[in-house]
Amino acid sequence: MSIKEIYQTMEYGPAPESNKESVAFLDSHKRKFSLFINGKWTKPSSGEYFESFSPATTQKLAQIAEANEKDVDDAVKAAKKALKPWVELGGHSRARYLYAIARQIQKHSRNFAVLESMDNGKPIRETRDIDIPLVARHFYHHAGWAQLMDTEMKDYKEIGVIGQIIPWNFPMLMLAWKIAPALAMGNTVVLKPAEFTSLTALLFADICKQVGLPDGVVNIITGHGGTGAALVNHPDVSKIAFTGSTEVGKIIRRATAGTGKKISLELGGKSPFIVFEDADLDSVVEGIVDAIWFNQGQVCCAGSRLLVQESVAEKLYSKIRARMETLRVGDSLDKSVDIGAIVAPIQLKTIEDLVQKGKDDGNICWQPSWTCPKEGYFYPPTLFTNVSPSSIIAQEEIFGPVLVAMSFRSHSEAVKLANNTRYGLASSIWTENINLALDIAPQIKAGTVWINCSNVFDRRDLVDIESQVMVEKAAKRACTNM
Ligand code: NAI
Ligand code: MG
Repeated sequence: MSIKEIYQTMEYGPAPESNKESVAFLDSHKRKFSLFINGKWTKPSSGEYFESFSPATTQKLAQIAEANEKDVDDAVKAAKKALKPWVELGGHSRARYLYAIARQIQKHSRNFAVLESMDNGKPIRETRDIDIPLVARHFYHHAGWAQLMDTEMKDYKEIGVIGQIIPWNFPMLMLAWKIAPALAMGNTVVLKPAEFTSLTALLFADICKQVGLPDGVVNIITGHGGTGAALVNHPDVSKIAFTGSTEVGKIIRRATAGTGKKISLELGGKSPFIVFEDADLDSVVEGIVDAIWFNQGQVCCAGSRLLVQESVAEKLYSKIRARMETLRVGDSLDKSVDIGAIVAPIQLKTIEDLVQKGKDDGNICWQPSWTCPKEGYFYPPTLFTNVSPSSIIAQEEIFGPVLVAMSFRSHSEAVKLANNTRYGLASSIWTENINLALDIAPQIKAGTVWINCSNVFDRRDLVDIESQVMVEKAAKRACTNM
């Protein structure tokens, strides 16, 4: 296409981010990763490895070690041995390590962002501008808490060795959420990344070595569900911090009951996104893009159920469809892509099956006119309208770029529909009337209620979760952006 023609059509050109540095990192480990136990790269005692691939290209990236019970035991032993000196170091000295980690993450942020996009399939725009900067901020933030612990948090004390099991949707961010506060408060950790996305956690292990973190304070063990289960069942683990599916959360709840182990579980959601007739509909549309098309909709607190007042429903649906038509799906390393690939074929199949059930139930399905790239595991943004509240797609977490919409007439009907779910993770309310927003917010049964915004988080919640005093705190907080 000539430049003259490009000026006519204003087509996007390819804008690939270079993956040179990340490829060099993979090659430096000969594309075969061991376990990070007691500050050393250790071969798995099973001798088994599995593949990690790029969902946007289907290319194999590296082989990852499968840790078995013995490896988990070694990691927990290392963490247990490291505990006392780590506690005795005191908050102020621990802060120095956390600051050093934060600085190294900033220094290597490009490599982290590219590697995360390659391994997970999420757009480089998100890893570069959201995930990795937030990871660094979490380490800075909790370094601050560590520094203040001796004077401002005298009642807080470490729990011990913490087993941390994280999912694949925000691999590095989940690692930071879990590791930073735990280390700040004097705990040592054994972390298991999700099997689809272990690579950035392994790069993080390199960073731990570079800053001279004492051996055993952070151990990274890779593997599947069985590895996670071995960690959950290990007697010397004092707490399990888990984020992932409700199904596995229930298994962990049962496994830890009566053992004295503490747990924190962060599971699924089907969060309502409530739009009243006086809302600014153009802001609503951008809010929806953030709520359900951010990270391919693979977000626990995704605003996946749109509840809109009947008087503006059709007007809003047409604005959403127009916006969907302009979203771009494609290679995760393309800088002008909005939606990347779905993490793995099994997740893609789950989305396809649920969408089919939604159609079978008689709900109206709409997708943009363009098609997704054929290579890779992509799914287009999808809107269901006229959805009945009992339909499976209105009840089940889809964990993909699928928005289900239904309308309401009265305020009380909006509240009833919003609360018609077995989940209660998050919700958002859209109106220009602060009195209405503050009347509705406390009636919604959800841990977080956002007003005129969505997916906005408060780091203060996390220090409570990973430290001793408050283990299960149901924070009902209205985040206002009016
Ligand atoms: P999952 O719950 O199986 O995976 C999360 C983590 O738990 C992974 O590290 C996995 O290896 C580990 N794990 C699996 N079985 C385990 C066990 N028995 N004991 C200890 N650890 C275990 O989630 P999966 O299968 O990858 O995704 C299925 C669904 O879960 C998604 O479609 C979505 O609905 C939900 N999900 C929710 C997330 C959230 O952020 N709340 C994140 C990921 C998935
Ligand atoms: Mg992968």
